[in-house]
Amino acid sequence: MVNSPDRDPGRLVLGIETSCDETAAAIVASGRQILVSLVASQIKDHAPFGGVVPEIASRRHLHNILPLVDGALRQTGLTFQNLSGIAVTQGPGLLGALLTGFSWAKTAAFAAGLPIVGVSHLEGHLCALELSANPPPFPHLALLVSGGHTSIYLVRDHFTRTELGRTVDDAAGEAFDKAGKLLGLDYPGGVTIDHLARQGNRRAYEFPRPLAHDGSLNFSFSGFKTAVWHFRQSHGQDYISANLADICASLQEAIVDILVRKMLAATSRTGVKHWTLSGGVACNSRLREAFRQAASEHGLGVSLAPPELCTDNAAMIAAAGAHALRAGRRLDPAADAVSRLPRGGALP
Ligand code: KG4
Ligand code: ZN
Repeated sequence: MVNSPDRDPGRLVLGIETSCDETAAAIVASGRQILVSLVASQIKDHAPFGGVVPEIASRRHLHNILPLVDGALRQTGLTFQNLSGIAVTQGPGLLGALLTGFSWAKTAAFAAGLPIVGVSHLEGHLCALELSANPPPFPHLALLVSGGHTSIYLVRDHFTRTELGRTVDDAAGEAFDKAGKLLGLDYPGGVTIDHLARQGNRRAYEFPRPLAHDGSLNFSFSGFKTAVWHFRQSHGQDYISANLADICASLQEAIVDILVRKMLAATSRTGVKHWTLSGGVACNSRLREAFRQAASEHGLGVSLAPPELCTDNAAMIAAAGAHALRAGRRLDPAADAVSRLPRGGALP
């Protein structure tokens, strides 16, 4: 099934995402319109272990990928012949997990005669905004907060961005998940803490705001986890259970507060007046509220990725891929998936 060359390789892109614990396939038209977006979550497979088990993730991806792509084609009534290109997450992520989707996509592109591009998972998270009703203007300041990443970028256009600051240790999502584990909550802790915090008082306890006044745009969350550990040791499980909502609301507030403060600092430094929020932690209801509020108080524009596109999905990969394919980027057939991005963020 060899495809004839398409004048617009970004016209109908199949996206594939397998970097962590979600297998996802999606088809996006012109980098803007989602025709289908399917996600097979593995949360139940990993929950008994309190975190993602790489070996299980890879096996589940292998099991899920073909039915997902088949489902995406069936639901849209499309075939490989109708597609204009394939975009696949090349990194960063769990290497074994990445390789399942990456190898599958390369083989499918070769068999179908379609152009293929490797996309950075972070580029994908940033492109989730493109799929919202009102895509952000350029330039903007992007806060990307997920289970593996916490960074502020100055985004000048689809291909030009500068990382202004990043976490020096744990990511914000990791801070949520580790705090949740220490408090004995269900995995992933971020979702559970958000839920419990809605009934709590966010000023009940004071948790640390690391690097709040260091003058940088970096974050640090490993001390936060230690603070939650000490809190649990000094108060005991009965006290924790009795005050869970207040504890969750207070520790969530500490994370949200530091994220918003650093965005304000980034605005002062760059003068850029539009903010975007994406990545799994961008689902957090308090972060969304505080982000909007701070932006409005400072006269800034704001775009939040739709919640269903904040956590890992393939529509964001297809959207990023559409821009990359249009710009002429193609995957080198010899290229491999990468667990970490090289310095500067460019893929091999
Ligand atoms: O983007 P994502 O799906 O995967 C990575 O690329 O890491 O993000 C997953 C992270 C997890 O740490 C999860 O706890 C967090 O996003 N998360 C949340 C919420 N929903 C997901 N954290 C706080 N509040 C939420 N509502
Ligand atoms: Zn992600």
